[in-house]
Amino acid sequence: MHAVLLDKAHHAIKEKLPERGNDHRLGFHLSPPVGWMNDPNGLVYFRGEYHVFYQHHPYSPQWGPMHWGHAKSHDLVHWEHLPIALAPSDPYDRDGCFSGSAVVVDDTLYLIYTGHVWLGSPRDDNHIQQVQCLASSTDGITFTKHGVIIDAPPEPEIMHFRDPKVWKRGEQWWMALGARKGDDPQLLIYRSVDLYHWEYLSCALQGVRESDGYMWECPDLFELDGSDVFLYSPQGLKPSGYANWNKFQNSYRLGKLDDSGHFNPSAALHELDHGHDFYAAQTLLAPDGRRLLWAWMDMWDCPMPSQAQHWCGALSLPRELSREGDRLRMRPARELTALRKSQHGLQIPVVESASRPLDVRGALLEIEIELDLAGSTAEHFGLALRCSEDQHERTLLYFDAMARRLVLDRQHSGAGVSGVRSVPISPEQTRIALRIFLDRSSIEVFVDDGAYTMTSRIYPRPDSLGISAFAVNGTGVFGDLEAWELTDLKI
Ligand code: FRU
Repeated sequence: MHAVLLDKAHHAIKEKLPERGNDHRLGFHLSPPVGWMNDPNGLVYFRGEYHVFYQHHPYSPQWGPMHWGHAKSHDLVHWEHLPIALAPSDPYDRDGCFSGSAVVVDDTLYLIYTGHVWLGSPRDDNHIQQVQCLASSTDGITFTKHGVIIDAPPEPEIMHFRDPKVWKRGEQWWMALGARKGDDPQLLIYRSVDLYHWEYLSCALQGVRESDGYMWECPDLFELDGSDVFLYSPQGLKPSGYANWNKFQNSYRLGKLDDSGHFNPSAALHELDHGHDFYAAQTLLAPDGRRLLWAWMDMWDCPMPSQAQHWCGALSLPRELSREGDRLRMRPARELTALRKSQHGLQIPVVESASRPLDVRGALLEIEIELDLAGSTAEHFGLALRCSEDQHERTLLYFDAMARRLVLDRQHSGAGVSGVRSVPISPEQTRIALRIFLDRSSIEVFVDDGAYTMTSRIYPRPDSLGISAFAVNGTGVFGDLEAWELTDLKI
């Protein structure tokens, strides 16, 4: 049955491909050939290659019964799409192969995922069954399902119980699961010696609805630079000040996971990225010891204009994680410099209460520039990106001197999207260093060497390619701009 359903899905993709529109198609980000994509799943290094799986609905660009899409890369830059790895084909995963992770044992690749079943009507979240399941592959392409490995939550009040993240701790396998008990979120830990038989160990952390949301999706737990990190996607946090304005968040807490399976937080909750579109991040440990992270570069219930062109969803660029104090830093994976083609260096004269078009254009660009705060008097100054000739379309990235914040403004970023996000700039800071990746429908901003990041989808027209430097009510002083056209890999 599984093989039949995989064939059917591949056939559907092949039929639809010629109809796909490419106006917003990303050049160097992973997105599904056609259909829908959400969370990254099963990030793993297997036989010399990085494998990325993802939540996928091959039959339409809407969320539906989840499959696991699959791609691999030898260098984190060039990606090859592979056949779909998992389709919902059995009674226990009938309505979806939900998110999960991957591990390698003796040259066999194992996928651990959540089998989802609607017990009432489809989409009725109050009547569901979720179980944890195992599949494996010896060639990294074709997967055999081994069925259910955890058939019920540890307590009857828990119904939502999903997104297993498995890793080796000492001699045993540990699994972290996100759960919802009543209206409160939980992080659960299971243990196993063989991946097939699991025992419930602990509720590692328990939250309360008011301050922690109602569900922690897509947990990840790993050691980083001497601390443990609990990375997760909380649902139900309320906006507060500048924080938590996306429908759901992607957050982390530092602390220590002890041998009895309890996570003792040592620092407050922080948002991981500060743009509009970043969710369900997961990590893998690269062979050279780097902790690499990908997220779904979209958000639930947001406009997705590419649906009209038969595809939607993308993953962020891979990022290298590090820790400084109680904060994580995210830098673009160093391999990504291989995307660079021709280079432009520009000196930008002081801009005074004006907007000055720059001699660099493009939809696929990497840009490095510093904003000189000490030398500037403007209320706002920065860059307008992906500008149309008439300037009606533009995506703004600027320093707001009154609020002392760096602002990403996509009020005029093209079809569908809107809204503003920002990060704080400390009173002592005299410069802001920006590294920006533009793809046809995305912007990723790495601020001050990854101390903050802002990731958002934008949907400008294909011919909105201009860049300007601007300053409002005063002078804006810019460091030299360095820009690279980036390779269109048509992934
Ligand atoms: C997170 C999530 C997961 C779930 C998956 C279903 O975005 O809701 O909790 O496994 O998406 O597609």
